[in-house]
Amino acid sequence: MFGGINNCHNVNDFRELAKRKLPSPIFHYIDGAADDELTYKRNTDSFNSCDLVPNVLSGVDEIDMSTTVMGQKIDMPLYCAPTALQRLFHHEGEIGVAKAAEKFGTMFGISSLGTASIEEISSLVSTPKLFQLYVHKDEGLNKDLIDRCKSSNFEAMAVTVDTAVGGNRERDLKTGFTIPMKLSIGSVMSFVSHPSWAFNYFTKPKWELSNLKNHIAAGTSVMTSIGDYFTDMLDNSLDWKGVEKINKQWGKQFAIKGIMSVEDAKKAVDVGATAVMVSNHGGRQLDGSRSPF
Ligand code: LAC
Repeated sequence: MFGGINNCHNVNDFRELAKRKLPSPIFHYIDGAADDELTYKRNTDSFNSCDLVPNVLSGVDEIDMSTTVMGQKIDMPLYCAPTALQRLFHHEGEIGVAKAAEKFGTMFGISSLGTASIEEISSLVSTPKLFQLYVHKDEGLNKDLIDRCKSSNFEAMAVTVDTAVGGNRERDLKTGFTIPMKLSIGSVMSFVSHPSWAFNYFTKPKWELSNLKNHIAAGTSVMTSIGDYFTDMLDNSLDWKGVEKINKQWGKQFAIKGIMSVEDAKKAVDVGATAVMVSNHGGRQLDGSRSPF
């Protein structure tokens, strides 16, 4: 029906291209959400039901979309969110996305579960960088990540708080998605029928969880699902005091990512956050939650 990336003109075109290019466990990991995926749908519906009322005759020969987010001047009111495991979807992974963010003058966010390291990203781009911290049970790991971000001059940190336990992602249960992948017969067939992905996976340098590899076995040699990873490895007892402590260790621009109520936004201010990210994690963790938009 259409060719490659040059024929992608909207988000759905990219989605269709990804569906054609990626083996099904990988496509469904990135595309799927928790339980019945009601929140995932709600997120999109809420944008669709919003209409715009333009103020005309504003003189638009010179357009300046720049804005300031977490103290960082960026050229457009969008930045690249810290999504996990980007090498799964494309062999350039976070490196490619960070370079694109720099090209368009905006901020790049890297996940704790990134497949490029804090140091690689820091030496690669000059535009603002945000690190997304999952607070682990292992306090030494948390401290190491914070110290590395400081040494690498990251400007901002966001602690994700909307994934207290792993979501029930039924599509992943069906495909058997694990990190690294545990190939079922069905999955093998899907990898065989998507040769360009498989070619890149086997011929490009092996990927790893670059920021966690010195601390954990998961993601390097031990098979674990994403849901199990969250439940086993993350500090499920994390509370406002815990976040306040992390913020003190960091001491720079600090967002709490996953705030969904006015009450919690006020608590975020009380623990010294400089920003809140209104987010339900794309509906990927808790189905039924409200659309942030
Ligand atoms: C996800 C986690 C890893 O949504 O952020 O898949």
